[in-house]
Amino acid sequence: MSESNTILVEIENAVATVTLNRPTKRNAMSPSLHLEMAETLEKLRYEKTSRVIVVTGAGESFCAGMDLKQFFVDLKDNPPEFDRIFRIATEWRFRTLRYFPKPTIAMINGYCFGGAFSIVEGCDLAFAAKEATFGLSEINFKHYPGGSVSKSLANLLRPRDALFYAMTGRTFKGDRAAEIGLINAAYPLAELKKEVMAVAAELATKDPDALSAAKDAYRFSLEMSAEAALNYAAAKSDQLSMRQNDSWRSEGIGDFLQGKYRPGLAAHKSTDK
Ligand code: COA
Repeated sequence: MSESNTILVEIENAVATVTLNRPTKRNAMSPSLHLEMAETLEKLRYEKTSRVIVVTGAGESFCAGMDLKQFFVDLKDNPPEFDRIFRIATEWRFRTLRYFPKPTIAMINGYCFGGAFSIVEGCDLAFAAKEATFGLSEINFKHYPGGSVSKSLANLLRPRDALFYAMTGRTFKGDRAAEIGLINAAYPLAELKKEVMAVAAELATKDPDALSAAKDAYRFSLEMSAEAALNYAAAKSDQLSMRQNDSWRSEGIGDFLQGKYRPGLAAHKSTDK
């Protein structure tokens, strides 16, 4: 079943808010939603007015995971189509978001189940409503955190927490999600958007190439030996110098040395484009 407008995009003050938009289905990820999200992220990658991406859900849910009917049942007898959608579903959550050239923030406004954990983990930062309900519900329907979800859990959580929630399927709220490191912080729902937009606005004042380098250096270092990571960081610094025309040295450091600002306390003004 093909649907449209499963993803909404609103760009304001350099922040693109990307909303999963199937509220009557608690924003479960249907094949159409995966296709639209992949297309949306491709456009936002090159879109010039947005510097930060915020992913959230319409209505009372962030995302109820994979659409259990449209994905697992309706495509059961169509292996090539199942494979196509599965690849796209994995790609945007596990790779595109993770290595996106702009900072990405998950704003978890409500239900967050199963496959939605890979959105949360794929984003650089995540904030949730205290009222939000999280759960690895797969075990409850006689399955387990499949696809990219188990690897997302392994990337973020301590083994005891990952296995406890994967094996019991117990739900937990925003404060607990923050406590176990799944998200950065939880706020009352009424304050969530304001708090997230404040972080997004802060990121929008930083140099975009430096932000991208900060993400890459962290993400790729996780998978490298120490020697390879040091070598990568040195090469990345040269790449950054080339992309910025060396302005981190000439302006970033140069203006500090002339007493014009204090980088310990604020970003260099020229990056606030
Ligand atoms: N896949 C497909 N449809 C889903 C869905 C999912 N993951 N989650 C919710 N829906 C649909 C329901 O089938 C229902 O559709 P209908 O109105 O056509 O009958 C609609 O969304 C509302 O769901 P409902 O269960 O009535 O809402 P609720 O607010 O009482 O409960 C949830 C919300 C999210 C707790 C509940 O829908 C649920 O348990 N969903 C499954 C979550 C899950 O296991 N996700 C992991 C997938 S990997």
